[in-house]
Amino acid sequence: EVGRRRRLLEAHKIADELFVRALGSREAQTAREFLTDRGFTAEHAKHFGIGYAPQGWSNLHDELRRRGFTDDELRASGLVSEGQRGLYDRFRGRLMWPIRDMTGATIGFGARKLYEDDPGPKYLNTPESPLYKKSQVLYGIDLAKRSIAKKRQLVVVEGYTDVMAAHLAGVDTAVATCGTAFGAEHIKIVRRLISDDGTGGEVVFTFDGDEAGQNAALKAFDEDHRFLAKTFVAVEPSGMDPCDLRQHKGDEAVRALISSRRPLFEFAIRAGLKDYDLNTVEGRAGALRHAAPIVAGIKDSVLRPGYERELAGWLGLDPNDVRRAVAAAGRGRR
Ligand code: CTP
Ligand code: MN
Ligand code: MN
Ligand code: MN
Ligand code: MN
Repeated sequence: EVGRRRRLLEAHKIADELFVRALGSREAQTAREFLTDRGFTAEHAKHFGIGYAPQGWSNLHDELRRRGFTDDELRASGLVSEGQRGLYDRFRGRLMWPIRDMTGATIGFGARKLYEDDPGPKYLNTPESPLYKKSQVLYGIDLAKRSIAKKRQLVVVEGYTDVMAAHLAGVDTAVATCGTAFGAEHIKIVRRLISDDGTGGEVVFTFDGDEAGQNAALKAFDEDHRFLAKTFVAVEPSGMDPCDLRQHKGDEAVRALISSRRPLFEFAIRAGLKDYDLNTVEGRAGALRHAAPIVAGIKDSVLRPGYERELAGWLGLDPNDVRRAVAAAGRGRR
């Protein structure tokens, strides 16, 4: 209920303040170096609200108890975990990113380990809580929402550092999912932002050039075909993510990556075309059988013919043949 929610938000505000303060402490030297090494200044850290969770089992727990939070509230917040000997701080000795909702209120954290042999995963996130539903959370949405609405563009990157790098490079429409794939619930939130009717804006996915990144793109494609025509993919051939790119090649390289975006449907088709030899009649026919259902899935009746012509060009086929194949595939699926 409302009272509960307000209490949990208050706990997150206190956590936020504790982590930001701790980033200035002696103990946080490695955390500050991590940021510097990635090309982020103290001012950048402040802008994004980056903090540091001190080592020790109860720094935050003790602070929250002092401020009158009950064990029950602490459990619900996800800020503490529970062991045999009671509650203890979930985040310890990690660099902290506050994850905020549209209004800028902190609802959870992303936490990165600072040493290879520290226990736990490289990134540890807040668990599901009344505030934090990872299927709906987009890191950076508070900073990006105005630009997203204005430019009618959303850029989806993979990580927290990638969001920072993108924004600092001028790609201020960037957000990231937090430890999960971009799914139907994210789409709902985004659609409302970039357009009223769901057809106005564009969405650009950047994924690591690796297999996992490509599969993520194809999964997003499966998720919502209505999204297809205005959905783009930007793949960096070197495999560098936006943070690496900014660090090693500068802001312009990040902007160039976004500019190099290609339609997701083209990506989806081409991912399958490499199995066919387009120099042969059989190969081109097979490729057409592969691609026709994908193009048939484009619901926008203005865009679909344009994509039919594109496909004809890639395959070196007569546009009329492609149109007939797409129409047949469309009838097959209905
Ligand atoms: N992630 C996660 N849990 C992990 C690894 C990754 O939740 N164990 C999520 C995080 O949100 C992270 C994003 O996936 O920001 C990107 O992961 P990855 O590309 O593997 O991170 P790197 O770019 O290698 O991370 P870094 O640059 O911090 O080394
Ligand atoms: Mn990756
Ligand atoms: Mn990465
Ligand atoms: Mn990275
Ligand atoms: Mn690097």
